[in-house]
Amino acid sequence: MIILGIETSCDETAVCVIHATGNLEKPAFKVLGNTTLSQVNIHAKHGGVFPMLAKREHTKNLIPILEEVLRESNFFKSREKVALGKDKEKTISKILEREPGLAHDLIKVLPSIERPKIDAIAVTYGPGLEPALWVGINFAKALGVLWDIEVCPVNHMEGHIASVLLNEKSRSTDSESRMIKFPVLALLISGGHTELVFTEKWGKYKILGETRDDAVGEAYDKVGRMLGIPYPAGPRISRLTTEDRIIRKIANRYDLPRPMINSDNLDFSFSGLKTSVLYALKKVPKIDEVVQREMAREFEDAVVDVFVSKTRQAIEKCTPKTFIIGGGVSANISIQNALTELCKKMGIEIFVPQQNLSTDNALMIAMAGFINILVGNNKTEQDIKANGNLRLA
Ligand code: KG4
Ligand code: ZN
Repeated sequence: MIILGIETSCDETAVCVIHATGNLEKPAFKVLGNTTLSQVNIHAKHGGVFPMLAKREHTKNLIPILEEVLRESNFFKSREKVALGKDKEKTISKILEREPGLAHDLIKVLPSIERPKIDAIAVTYGPGLEPALWVGINFAKALGVLWDIEVCPVNHMEGHIASVLLNEKSRSTDSESRMIKFPVLALLISGGHTELVFTEKWGKYKILGETRDDAVGEAYDKVGRMLGIPYPAGPRISRLTTEDRIIRKIANRYDLPRPMINSDNLDFSFSGLKTSVLYALKKVPKIDEVVQREMAREFEDAVVDVFVSKTRQAIEKCTPKTFIIGGGVSANISIQNALTELCKKMGIEIFVPQQNLSTDNALMIAMAGFINILVGNNKTEQDIKANGNLRLA
């Protein structure tokens, strides 16, 4: 089955085409085309993601990215422009009435491309920024009408779980995905989420614990701002701390709390940690590079300690066979190393997404779309609405 994946929930516009085969026990994927366009530089000026700006950028970029991905997948075949037919043109204009620029470009450009042999379109419908989500959903629906293809709505967090399925060979061959043994425990850590999820089978999830205030990625970005590190600070803090651990083992002047580490539940809280950084920095006359490095390291150590402790408790509680980390913050090397060590000690297999699949991308959405189709969880097209607060359970 050939699946077109579309992801626009936040500040990445991403489109891909994959060839998916196999079954729920052994899905196999080949990447035919994949592009992610990050809006980071645009939002960096504002220190965070602005929903309407994200929507504008998605609207502008979706058609050029789709064309690029179709070219890469060898599905881009020019033809004499054919008339769309009044009915289709009307339906597409109606679907994209809030994105008139996109409707115009779609009607102008796509009838000159032969219908690609795509069987399904998988699109993120939540959670995320609703104006941004709507662009992707309406685009998917319009393509569905244009090419008569079914549209499959995907939960972005299920996408982060599915992100670990792809293995390195999937670029060149139809390769079996990495074998995940259920039950699975997943720690999903991103700019909008921090949650421990348990599942005995694809499509059925239980949230064991989640953040009561800020998401961990949000805490990284806010602490970064206090330290004068530009948005998104997560990858930069990660680089600083990794260098630090390698280059010199400097003593640390700071002593931050490990929030909720001793609570008798699996919830998290990162807002207090962020405030502790703020107070500690008030006592510092000047935030220079040494302060940046030391504070970044202590902050990251606090985050790591909390994740290790909560993951250990969750593993003891639900005895999974596989542990997965997903979401933008799972790209963090210190977090990856600490959790890998924990899983080794506890005799559990750990799966971490390949590089570039931690942060938002369309491949995880296409793979989760395939899983959804196999599970039979599909909604009908009319049902698809953006849901900024969509949950896994
Ligand atoms: O999953 P994602 O791309 O978008 C959301 O769904 O939120 O995650 C983005 C978040 C940002 O807060 C970013 O600072 C953080 O992931 N991030 C990292 C790293 N790379 C990205 N945080 C810590 N260490 C990293 N290496
Ligand atoms: Zn995400």
